[in-house]
Amino acid sequence: MSTGHDEPSRREKVTIRTIQRMKQAGEPITCLTAYDALLARLLDRNGIDLILVGDSAGMVMAGRKDTLSVTLDEMLHFTRWAAEGVERALLVADMPFLTYQVNPDEAVRNAGRFLAEAGAEAVKVEGGRSVAPTIQRLVSTGIPVMGHLGLTPQSINVFGGYQLQAIDQEARDRLLAEARLLEEAGCFSIVLEKIPEALAREVSGAIGIPTIGIGAGVGCDGQILVTQDMLGLFTEFKPKFVRRYAELAADIEQAVAQYAEDVRKGTFPAPEESYLDGEG
Ligand code: KIV
Repeated sequence: MSTGHDEPSRREKVTIRTIQRMKQAGEPITCLTAYDALLARLLDRNGIDLILVGDSAGMVMAGRKDTLSVTLDEMLHFTRWAAEGVERALLVADMPFLTYQVNPDEAVRNAGRFLAEAGAEAVKVEGGRSVAPTIQRLVSTGIPVMGHLGLTPQSINVFGGYQLQAIDQEARDRLLAEARLLEEAGCFSIVLEKIPEALAREVSGAIGIPTIGIGAGVGCDGQILVTQDMLGLFTEFKPKFVRRYAELAADIEQAVAQYAEDVRKGTFPAPEESYLDGEG
């Protein structure tokens, strides 16, 4: 039941203000990833508020071992494709490794291309204190920024693996301080990845901008998953935080095997799938 005029409509275009109003209204924000128009359209039509063109594309689509080798051109390409399928959701593009860390001028030039050339409405960058000045520059240039704290996959070689982050008190305090810093720098939202539920809940209560959790428990303002993970399409590994809502890899394997068998047996195509004399 509607609680009043402040509640965002499911059909209205989602902007960064919508996302912020949803936090204030206590309405959970639904987010998923997409790298192409086909999938982005399915998410967009089915109530996903924010679509992230994640650099997870490097692992999910290109089969690489991590996200570090994903290039700016690849991300611009995926973003253009996803943008074709999006009407309502807020479209956010991940900035790849080394496209924003070197200096703020380069970051502005690279981030600007996602908005000017690829149809994104915001960018996401990983990190805390070290990227705060760059975030300030991006936002003051007119580029909305989503932050990303906790397990930031572009720093995988510093972490030495994909383990749970911010476990001891010092690391928890640092993450909370960095979340405040990212809010001050102008982020409209922050992804919290693979951190303890209690810490994510504390951060969500301490800052005014929405937190979007992935492996951070139910206390965040919204949730995100890699779509191919939750559809059971990417099955190389399954982190604890992934819930599979479908088993598409198994369905596809079954369908492909059936098709191959039908072609070999000569039962595909059938007459009703063929153009017969006198048709057309
Ligand atoms: O690259 C990505 O898909 C991400 C999300 C998992 C948050 O950063």
